[in-house]
Amino acid sequence: MLACLAGVTGCKIEQFPQTTLDPKSDYAWIIQRLLDQQVFWVVVIFMLVLAIQMFILVRFRARPGAPEPKHIHGNTMIEIAWTIAPAIILTLVAVPTVIAIYQTQATAPAGALHVRAIGHQWWWEFQYPELGVTTASELYVPVGKTVAVDIETVDVLHSFWFPAMGGKRDAVPGRVNHMFFAADTTGTFMGQCAELCGTSHANMRMKLIVNTPEEFDAWVASQKADPVHPDSMSLAARGKQQFSQGACIACHTITGVSAGVIGPNLTHVGSRTTLAGAIYENNPENLGHWLTDPPARKPGSLMPNQALTPDQVEALVAYLTSLK
Ligand code: CUA
Repeated sequence: MLACLAGVTGCKIEQFPQTTLDPKSDYAWIIQRLLDQQVFWVVVIFMLVLAIQMFILVRFRARPGAPEPKHIHGNTMIEIAWTIAPAIILTLVAVPTVIAIYQTQATAPAGALHVRAIGHQWWWEFQYPELGVTTASELYVPVGKTVAVDIETVDVLHSFWFPAMGGKRDAVPGRVNHMFFAADTTGTFMGQCAELCGTSHANMRMKLIVNTPEEFDAWVASQKADPVHPDSMSLAARGKQQFSQGACIACHTITGVSAGVIGPNLTHVGSRTTLAGAIYENNPENLGHWLTDPPARKPGSLMPNQALTPDQVEALVAYLTSLK
């Protein structure tokens, strides 16, 4: 209903990729239906109150020579009526709300695809424990399949939120929160950390890619594959050497090359569409800018400026983009 209202007022839902009014999962539809229901009743009550008010204004308006109106202070019937009416309205609001809370807080059904979403300052790590895949900032799921997300953090509070998929759920230090949803349509949906978590909170974005089951399986296979080994004389090979001998290995994993766990796993970084917490498109130019001075591209970035020379950056870009 609200989506229709948005249509009537001429605002296009596509202009707002993080709208909460365009549900694309079972979870998001529970919230949307609740909202539609409540807005419906609010409008009915508003019209009713307005109509009664207008009637009273006209019917009981002051007329010349009219006697003083009857005093109704202490009328028991009226007192009871305006106590019961709000109680009924609050019940109409509360019952569906509590049902929706229980539905969206339930335990995920058996057979769901299990994902760990781990908040870091300022990016999301995604692990698929059953599939042996670890990635960052971009969450791939198959359409129609229930995805059970365990939401965790390694540092401060974050909040996992894909508006098209449902409500926010906090990542709280020392505990694991859960949510589950099944996307009902393929496509790409943007998400955002929704809990103030420091300097680059607003730069802690994420992307959900909902694929067909076949496309998803192909993606899993590509992510499980060993990273490519560049030809020995290539620029990428120099980049690999730079990576292996530099500070990069302290924080990043590339299967068979390094095993750092502080920064994103880069084994297949070249297959990602975005960089640095999904804030930049992943292309050689942006990657070069990023490697040259990360804190300048993302304030507060824990990846320091390593004073790389342009040659070193060029080689690293060639290597990292080759890691499809
Ligand atoms: Cu993480 Cu805000």
